[in-house]
Parts: sequence; structure tokens; C-alpha cells
Amino acid sequence: MCNDLNHFEECYRTGFKPWDSGAPEPELIRVIEAGKLPGATLMEIGCGTGTNAVELARRGYQVTAVDFVRQAVLAARKKVRIAGVKVDIRVGDVTAMDLGGPYDVLFDRGVYHHLRLENLKGFQQMLKKVTRAGSRWLSLAGNAKEKHHPGPPTVSETEIRAELEPLFEILELREFRFVTNKADFRPPAWSILMQRRK
Ligand SMILES: C[S@@+](CC[C@H](N)C(=O)[O-])C[C@H]1O[C@@H](n2cnc3c(N)ncnc32)[C@H](O)[C@@H]1O
Repeated sequence: MCNDLNHFEECYRTGFKPWDSGAPEPELIRVIEAGKLPGATLMEIGCGTGTNAVELARRGYQVTAVDFVRQAVLAARKKVRIAGVKVDIRVGDVTAMDLGGPYDVLFDRGVYHHLRLENLKGFQQMLKKVTRAGSRWLSLAGNAKEKHHPGPPTVSETEIRAELEPLFEILELREFRFVTNKADFRPPAWSILMQRRK
């Protein structure tokens, strides 16, 4: 089991979850509207309280969303019910469960940058199982070019290429800023659009 679980359970329990902006991530919308995430089935890794999972379902994807914090998943299920969409929301550690697939599209916002520190090998093995040649993955991760304290974990371009390029071709590596639950807190981020190699 991932040690990060205690950390994230505490974040949701105390309400310290700056990433939970309550609005769909604009960078995700930009990439979808540019037609760069084609496909029908999509898995969101670490869906939190489900804002983006709901948006993805509204846009026509058949969404599976996973998070290991039960409180977050309960909030996500409530959002899904209120929105009247269909999302298969599961509770568990993505590196230690059967996730089904392979999926056409993967999406994570703020999860790769944690999991790479906790269990990179397990994360890479999971990515291999849930994708096939041609699957796309949009990962939104903290950007090490600018230090931000407090802020999300960060990753450098060199680390991204070393860790992800063996399995994925990087189609776009773009800088942007996360939207958070505070208007004046916009930590620097990477938008990493990838396609699974053979
Ligand atoms: C920074 S939060 C982002 C949440 C959501 N993606 C968002 O943008 O609102 C990271 C999320 O990943 C989840 N997470 C981290 N490691 C995980 C793992 N190994 N398995 C499942 N979920 C995980 C955490 O519980 C947390 O909800």
C-alpha cells in the first residue's frame, strides 16, 4: 500500500486540498477541444472529488475514475449523481488493483508527480497494463522550473523524459499554471500529452 494514503486522507479530512478548485481544469478542456484526446474509454487516475471526471463524462467519454481516499470518492459519487452522468468510480491504490482496460485515454491531474516519488516502478507497470499502442495520456504535473513553497511536488523535463519516454512518445510538453482553490495561488505546471508506443 502506498504511504501517501495517510497524507491524502488527512488532506481530505482537514479540508486542506488546494488542488480542489471546484471547476474543470482549463488545460484539460483546451486539449480535448483541440481534438487531442480521441477515443471512447477514459480512466482518470486519482480523481479526487470528481470535478474533472464529471466534465469528461459530460463530454461523452465512458469514464472510469479511481482514487484511494474513500472520502474523496464519496464526494465524487455525489457530484456524479447530482450531474446525472455515468462514471464508474472505484476506491483503491492504482498501483495495486485491477483497473480493467486497456483504455483509449488516461488523464491525471497532480498524481504522476506524487506517485513517481512513492512507487515509480509500480506506476510504470500499471501504465503498461491499462494502455495499448496508440492510447493517449494527458498528465498535468508540477513544474520544477520555478520553486513554489508551499506547492505541489515538481518534476523536471529531464525526469519526465527518463521516466515516461520508454513507454510513451511525448507529443506535447507545454508549460501552464494550475488553477487552485485560491485565486492568487497558481503554481507552475507541465501539460504532458503522450501516446503509447508499441
Ligand atoms: C493532488 S490530488 C489531485 C486530485 C484530482 N486529480 C484533482 O485534480 O482535483 C492527488 C489525488 O491522487 C490520489 N492518489 C494519490 N496516489 C494514489 C494512488 N496510489 N492510488 C489512487 N489514488 C491516488 C489522492 O488521493 C488525491 O485525491
